[in-house]
Amino acid sequence: MDQQYILHQKTWIDEEMYRCIEALTIEGRLRDSVMYSMRAGGKRLRPLLMKSTFDSFTKSEATYTSTAIALEMIHTYSLIHDDLPSMDDDDTRRGMKTNHREFDEATAILAGDSLLTMSFELISSDEALSTEQRVFLIKELARAAGPRGMVTGQMWDMEFEKRKTDVSMLKSIHLNKTGRLIAFSVVAGGYLAGVAPRQVEKLRRVGEAVGLIFQIQDDILDVTGDKEKLGKPVGSDESNEKTTYPKLMGLEGAKQEKRKYEEEVQRLLDELNAIGTPLAELISYMSQREY
Ligand code: IPE
Ligand code: IPE
Ligand code: MG
Ligand code: MG
Ligand code: MG
Repeated sequence: MDQQYILHQKTWIDEEMYRCIEALTIEGRLRDSVMYSMRAGGKRLRPLLMKSTFDSFTKSEATYTSTAIALEMIHTYSLIHDDLPSMDDDDTRRGMKTNHREFDEATAILAGDSLLTMSFELISSDEALSTEQRVFLIKELARAAGPRGMVTGQMWDMEFEKRKTDVSMLKSIHLNKTGRLIAFSVVAGGYLAGVAPRQVEKLRRVGEAVGLIFQIQDDILDVTGDKEKLGKPVGSDESNEKTTYPKLMGLEGAKQEKRKYEEEVQRLLDELNAIGTPLAELISYMSQREY
């Protein structure tokens, strides 16, 4: 899968997303703040992961659009809140000032709240989905993003600042703060493609491993990355005294840990007969990313 293909796909999600947000009736400063972060760019990897999973298992007509947009909205909300002074206190994101720097903290909190709640409005009102599909997707997304997933991961991420921890706790933090939402991308894509429930559970394991690979790489890039390419600061983890993979096991150790999960993904994809599919290609692109 080459860069060109990824960029083409990214255009699709961007256009759909702007169209959809334009249709939502928010106004004034709140709207500006929401649009600021949504339009700031971003790799759109979660919607792409969802689409690639869907395309890997069916040729039927796309039914994933609203869910893919909802997913990106929740991810964007998580970044706005993650950057707040009370959390990671960062000044740049997606190559621009962070939302609270451009607007103010209260507006940034409310823009995040808007994106979170709008995402559920979007899925629940998509008439291309059956009632059963809407309930499944909303339940899965709420679990992945809420206190049984990302929110708890973010809580632990902060509770473990300046504290010693072991690999198993670090894995739990990363799995929750990043892995669950990424796993949702794969689960939702497979589910809408009509994959059997047992296979959907296998896809969930793929997604969780991809989530860990993704966050380990994010930790590595916080040490070795280029802030221009990343569009966000490097060294943020060190200054916040976060527990990360490079901190716990060194850069080489972190890369080795990442390889362990890459091998697990290959094994699972093989069991799913999904080697060589768009999903497999996107995953390998994601694990080699430099931004
Ligand atoms: C950053 O996610 C936050 C993490 C979970 C590591 P991305 O690297 O996907 O951020 P964008 O969407 O491209 O800005
Ligand atoms: C954030 O992890 C995970 C979220 C749920 C937002 P990080 O704090 O490492 O993400 P970046 O490095 O700021 O993008
Ligand atoms: Mg953080
Ligand atoms: Mg952060
Ligand atoms: Mg990071």
